[in-house]
Amino acid sequence: MQTAMFSLDPQAIDAALIARAAEVVRAGGLVAFPTETVYGLGANALDAQSVAGIFAAKDRPAHDPLIVHLADAADLPRVVADVPELARTLAAHFWPGPLTLVLPRGAQIPPEVTAGGETVAVRVPSHPVARALIRAAGVPIAAPSANRFGRLSPTRAEDVLADLEGRIDLILNGGPTPVGVESTVLSLVTAVPTILRPGGVSRERLQAVLKTVDLLSKPVSPGTERVVSPGMLSQHYAPQAALTLYQGPAEALLPAMREAALNLRAEGHRVGLLLAEEDLDFFAGLPLILRAAGPRQDLAVVARQLFATLRALDAAAVDVILARDFGPAGLGLAIRDRLTRAAGGHVVTVAP
Ligand code: TXA
Ligand code: MG
Repeated sequence: MQTAMFSLDPQAIDAALIARAAEVVRAGGLVAFPTETVYGLGANALDAQSVAGIFAAKDRPAHDPLIVHLADAADLPRVVADVPELARTLAAHFWPGPLTLVLPRGAQIPPEVTAGGETVAVRVPSHPVARALIRAAGVPIAAPSANRFGRLSPTRAEDVLADLEGRIDLILNGGPTPVGVESTVLSLVTAVPTILRPGGVSRERLQAVLKTVDLLSKPVSPGTERVVSPGMLSQHYAPQAALTLYQGPAEALLPAMREAALNLRAEGHRVGLLLAEEDLDFFAGLPLILRAAGPRQDLAVVARQLFATLRALDAAAVDVILARDFGPAGLGLAIRDRLTRAAGGHVVTVAP
């Protein structure tokens, strides 16, 4: 299969290109497109065979369910069996945007989308290219992140191409995605609304609307039988290099990372560090490969650049990565979640 690429300006969308992409979706094909979080790999969510193509292209196991994307919150009754009051409230606050709601599955949604389950994950993305595509297709679009299973999520069209060239029909290139981490997945089928995956809408912002919200805190380990949200597998989003996450106060964190990095270097490893911009001086002149994801105080920038920074470390052919934590507040929780998974549980907590 040849993979075509159309470039689009999100501020001035070429309707003819969107119409051609929508036609590919309606014909059962696979189209990667930018959302505000990461690039998605889309197919007609109402057609089981189209959806099966997504799993094949990604090498994704069939037991990992997909998110259904809508152009408008008003379309929600088309894909879910029931729209609770809470869903309306959350939609009014956060849609379009990076919040995914888990609700009872509507009869129109084939079981292939939900991995056979009776719930369906739904969101309305805010990216103009995503909304134009869904609207023009006239059907809800099922889309996981547009990467091979277990790899880093793509935040640029070239990342999609690197993973999926020859496996999908079309990539809509709308430039880098502004949020950079995936949507927050919130279950509304649990007794208390529960965050299954921290993401682009922070826990604090949900708490301001919900009063109570639980956080599924223990990622289940791969191979565990009952998986609440399969995306919570503890190893996921992995770069090629072995990654260790360092947590703790900056005064203790940076010296601990320096010592560990220099020891690894002495053992002959090519060592990469994922840091905040303010940390670079501390490591200057050492035989280490340094990459900053953004300023410590601006987690929106860190989130936006997180996956591209990990990819840059892979491209620099490091074989180990030491990454610093950015705290649990705001987007820090999603950043920590992705780095913890990339670390496959290798987390070092440095005492003050
Ligand atoms: O930002 C995003 O959410 C991106 C863009 C493309 O929309 N999509 C994305 O999809 O990250 P994916 O497939 O990589 O991750 C979807 C997550 C997985 O953790 C999956 O297990 C969970 O949502 N999920 C999907 N359906 C579910 C359901 N019915 N119940 C619980 N978790 C579900
Ligand atoms: Mg994914």
